[in-house]
Amino acid sequence: MNPSPAEQQLVIVSNRLPFIVGRDPAGRLEARPASGGLVTAMLPILRQKGGTWIGWTGLPEKDDASPAALAESVGWPGFAVVPVALSDEEVVGFYEGFSNEIIWPLFHDLPSFCEFAPSHWDYYLRVNRKFARAIADNAAPDSLVWVHDYHLINVGSELRQLGARLRTAFFLHIPFPSIDMFMKLPWRQSLLRSLLEYGLVGFQTLNDRRNYVQCLRRLLRGVSVSGKGQVLRVTVGDRHQAVGHFPIGIDFADFAHRAAAPEVRERAQALHNLLPDRRLLFGVDRLDYTKGILLRLRAYREALIRHPELRQRVTLIQVVVPSREHISTYFDLRTQIEQLVSRINGEFTEPGGWVPIHYVFRSLDPVDLLAYYRAAEVALVTPLKDGMNLVAKEYCTCSIEEDCVLVLSEFAGAAAQLRGGALMVNPYDIEGVADAIYRACCMPEQERRRRMRRMRREIMRRDLFWWVSSFFNAVNKEVPHELQTNQSDEHGAMADGENPVDAEPGDLHRRVG
Ligand code: UDP
Ligand code: G6P
Repeated sequence: MNPSPAEQQLVIVSNRLPFIVGRDPAGRLEARPASGGLVTAMLPILRQKGGTWIGWTGLPEKDDASPAALAESVGWPGFAVVPVALSDEEVVGFYEGFSNEIIWPLFHDLPSFCEFAPSHWDYYLRVNRKFARAIADNAAPDSLVWVHDYHLINVGSELRQLGARLRTAFFLHIPFPSIDMFMKLPWRQSLLRSLLEYGLVGFQTLNDRRNYVQCLRRLLRGVSVSGKGQVLRVTVGDRHQAVGHFPIGIDFADFAHRAAAPEVRERAQALHNLLPDRRLLFGVDRLDYTKGILLRLRAYREALIRHPELRQRVTLIQVVVPSREHISTYFDLRTQIEQLVSRINGEFTEPGGWVPIHYVFRSLDPVDLLAYYRAAEVALVTPLKDGMNLVAKEYCTCSIEEDCVLVLSEFAGAAAQLRGGALMVNPYDIEGVADAIYRACCMPEQERRRRMRRMRREIMRRDLFWWVSSFFNAVNKEVPHELQTNQSDEHGAMADGENPVDAEPGDLHRRVG
């Protein structure tokens, strides 16, 4: 009998490990937790199941830290860690460049933020090959190799070129764009064909899956799709793939349990004592233009203008977690946020001590984050576009009295599950968000409870473990152990599928070094 993925060796591969290693001023190695939804989701899974996590430590390649010293800086995380080192140029070309200045903005429908430098693609290929080698060196033949997110789409192709015949699955944590957006990518054919290499590809929402299938149909020939429900089967020439949508969840029980701890309750109470008689509005986001922080601040300002009775009665606590600050758009965004916060505070602060926005720029320790979640009567989650947005789910989970309000963007993946309970907004509609803020602050208790209960039920039902087991069920059912041998040469399997008009120079597998 074939082992289930739970019994097989699980190899998780993502650009980032769940910690970032650096050196303190004295040159000692120190590890700090990485932030973001991918790490929040995958860490409990590997802790529970064991296995191997392959990823980048954040240390420069030239750093000669020994594996033992690295392991010591991290402490024993409960699973094996295989570090992948990146050179300074790879960090610029692969991580900052192709991943975060091309795919990230394009897949979030923001093409004007893209920097389509051709050399970024070369670095993307080179680093994906590096990851593929690390997988080939560390995965047992019966391992399930589960690759995560947009940095590593090409690992599928690279594994095949290395001749590593492993069971593979891929999950995209960010949105998959519409055909019109995807067509802008100069390397669209190559990237799509690489994605097709995985036995199973999972997306966050039905819409993302639909976009992917539409791109396959438009860009490749001979695509057939069968099945219905959560997982479809796609055939392109002699290539077969399962394609599903699996909305990622959180560990509901753990969050709810930790949120109920006396320490968290006390810190939440202390916040209210510091800001008495206020409704607390809360936003916590990585520093990222996709999160809609600037428009949210403008909407809050608009709310204070349109509904002056909110003044002195509400405080917005906006936490921004540092992220990707070497990329100029991120660096500039920080300046813009800080200028706007200061402008709004300058405009509305009252001598009596009321400051409309409390702004925090750092990452939070977990107890503080939970305390903010518990203290805030309203959360503002207003991304311009987001794969899922775990903050929305964490906030509701921590509302253990079930009487808080979530204001949620229509363009967050979480909207598909939470629209029945959240106040849904278009983040671009400043007046609409301002009115939603007002409505959230005035909502009667009965309505608050009804809405929050509905959201918490959904989050609990489709939690992190539901997500993993539905993904693994699909792997078990759809991804054979005996891998097809007919995926031979680089372009062979797809040659018939290629649309001649799309065979552009950008699609050639050029390599650096
Ligand atoms: N988070 C974090 N450090 C912080 C504040 C938040 O790691 O200081 C976590 C938060 O709990 C959530 C994740 O970062 O799990 C953010 O995930 P989300 O899906 O909302 O957005 P992403 O950052 O992945 O785009
Ligand atoms: C999002 C992405 C993750 C990424 C995280 C933090 O959640 O989906 O892949 O790790 O942001 O971004 P960073 O660039 O610091 O890894």
